[in-house]
Amino acid sequence: MSQSQTNQRRILVTSALPYANGPIHLGHLVEYIQTDIWVRFQRARGHEVHYVCADDAHGTAIMLKAEQNGVTPEQQIADVKADHERDFADFLIRFDNYHSTHSDENREFSSFIYLKNRDGGHIATRPVRQLFDPEKQMFLADRFIKGDCPKCNAKDQYGDSCEVCGATYAATELKNPYSTISGATPVEKESIHYFFKLPDFAAFLQDREKSGRLQPEVANKLDEWFEAGLNDWDISRDAPYFGFEIPDAPGKYFYVWLDAPIGYMASFKNLCSKNPALNFDEFWKEDSTTELYHFIGKDIVYFHALFWPAMLEGAGFRKPTAICAHGFLTVNGQKMSKSRGTFIKARTYLDSLNPEYLRYYFAAKLSGTVEDIDLSLDDFTARVNSDLVGKVVNIASRCAGFINKKFEGRLTASCAEPVLLNEFIDAGESIAVHYEHRDFGRAIREIMALADRANQYIDEKKPWALAKVEGKDAEVQEVCSVGINLFRQLMVYLSPILPATSAASASFLNISGFEWESREQLLLDHTINAFQPLMTRIEKEKVDAMVEASKENLMVTPTAAPFSAAKPAEPEQTTEISIDDFMKVDLRVARIVNAQHVDGADKLLQLTLDIGEDQTRNVFAGIKSAYPEPEKLIGRLTVMVANLAPRKMKFGMSEGMVLAAGPGGSDIFILSPDDGATAGMKVK
Ligand code: MSP
Ligand code: ZN
Repeated sequence: MSQSQTNQRRILVTSALPYANGPIHLGHLVEYIQTDIWVRFQRARGHEVHYVCADDAHGTAIMLKAEQNGVTPEQQIADVKADHERDFADFLIRFDNYHSTHSDENREFSSFIYLKNRDGGHIATRPVRQLFDPEKQMFLADRFIKGDCPKCNAKDQYGDSCEVCGATYAATELKNPYSTISGATPVEKESIHYFFKLPDFAAFLQDREKSGRLQPEVANKLDEWFEAGLNDWDISRDAPYFGFEIPDAPGKYFYVWLDAPIGYMASFKNLCSKNPALNFDEFWKEDSTTELYHFIGKDIVYFHALFWPAMLEGAGFRKPTAICAHGFLTVNGQKMSKSRGTFIKARTYLDSLNPEYLRYYFAAKLSGTVEDIDLSLDDFTARVNSDLVGKVVNIASRCAGFINKKFEGRLTASCAEPVLLNEFIDAGESIAVHYEHRDFGRAIREIMALADRANQYIDEKKPWALAKVEGKDAEVQEVCSVGINLFRQLMVYLSPILPATSAASASFLNISGFEWESREQLLLDHTINAFQPLMTRIEKEKVDAMVEASKENLMVTPTAAPFSAAKPAEPEQTTEISIDDFMKVDLRVARIVNAQHVDGADKLLQLTLDIGEDQTRNVFAGIKSAYPEPEKLIGRLTVMVANLAPRKMKFGMSEGMVLAAGPGGSDIFILSPDDGATAGMKVK
């Protein structure tokens, strides 16, 4: 240990703080698993590591969610936090502290950082005109406003852009706007907002970028942002808002993203208060020599690579050593989808499967870049079964039986294959480099190549055959002792990924753990314990059960424009119509005779519909996100509104509307009439 003591690093690590308005899902877990593996690796190397996180508890979404659930925001965030902590613990993600941004520490640091920046001249105020819900008495963010597109008149478009014609605009330009919270017609209203003057830090941020600590893709993104020019950042929100009141501005609250990253500090401060040996300033003072890493998804780079270091600079704190950004999770090659059962919650996974399977699979896919990673469920099953059960655990199970039965658990006093063992030990240096760079996939490829070597060795020596030959006992013991030592080396390399299997292996091997350096001392003249099955195979039925349990029933989206791909869950408004109105709607079964992409439109497909009586209709439908391969729609029956007034759109005339269901995005389903329908049939 003496060497590692002198080179001991002191590291503070964070994962992004999950929002307190919903459950942890497999997408989130990419990040928490990645971070936890890296933390465990650093600890195995003998470094001092503190890993903190918290729930991100503030903002309008959480306030509205609490209202929807009929509880106070405080109750809402307490319930969610308990669920989050349980999910993380069960995935073997071991934080040293899990706090909340709605905490005293965070209130104090947020005020402090704000006031420092204000005193440094980095805060500005100016009036902002914004839409206001007169019924709810609150200002409305763009995503809470809908109306008719100012360019093409499409109904029910959000306050920032039209999903039919692609136009972008200000919410105030929408025609017939309404609040999606109350349904009321918003009014324009002015209020004073507080701004963080990000451009003050442009030179500082550009210098930091040049220091070369960022991932290349992230650095490129930053260059784009610098080129486009930095803007002041609106950090205030008016009441009602669930958050911290701005100290010198009663009735104004910090925007959730102002206090969210400060939550990293707050959680660490809270840890320090529980652990007197820890000194907060050593990790946060301006000239700190400790290291600070933020693990985040690629969607929140702007906040972490621009706002956050700038705020810290303005307030006189240390800046992050590095930001470790990862890509997004897809399942079976597509965005996670509730209808396909691939929007899988952490808890649903745990109900069917062992968390270490997923830790291993994610590790195998992670490369330290911001590339998206795909969980292919078939590949997941095959890979875990073949690598972990077929290769790694197999080595131990093939050797342990002989050692236990024939030699009372005793390993040989000297190593029969020093060259082979040395190769395994030496491999630890390059595997460690890959772990350090978060290239876990590459680490695993090297580890599995070693596992293949170990199995090959055992296959060549055939201890099961030797055991049947008189006078070959010593050789059996030698071979199996080598096998057990090789297994031990592999577990050193896998233990950051597989904490539970490594704990079970340590007790089977009768050793205290798998510190990286421990691999240099072979297990010689050492007694192991009885072998217990360390990991079982993934059964396909369990995976299927998990997918089944993740499928959510779809509701027909009751909006006038079924194809306004709805943004994430939010209260839907329905407008009542009379039976007479309804009778005017000519609903027909239509056969899709052609479906094709529309040049220049990212959301539309052009459908040619046969509605019987030799009539066809041309319809533009915003369903491309759900049906990226339009050919697959050809030949299908659907239900359409056949007497909708033709509408001129950017790409041509649309002569009707087809009916679909689903929340939007890739979850839009063309409604198909039951078997037996033919094109032209009336639907009422
Ligand atoms: N509350 C903010 C973070 C504040 S950090 C000061 C937030 N929360 S989140 O719950 O939406 O996401 C938490 C983390 O999970 C983010 O880093 C995000 O990128 C990551 N992921 C959420 N969904 C994901 C996938 N589908 N795939 C991979 N990572 C994902 O953002
Ligand atoms: Zn439009």
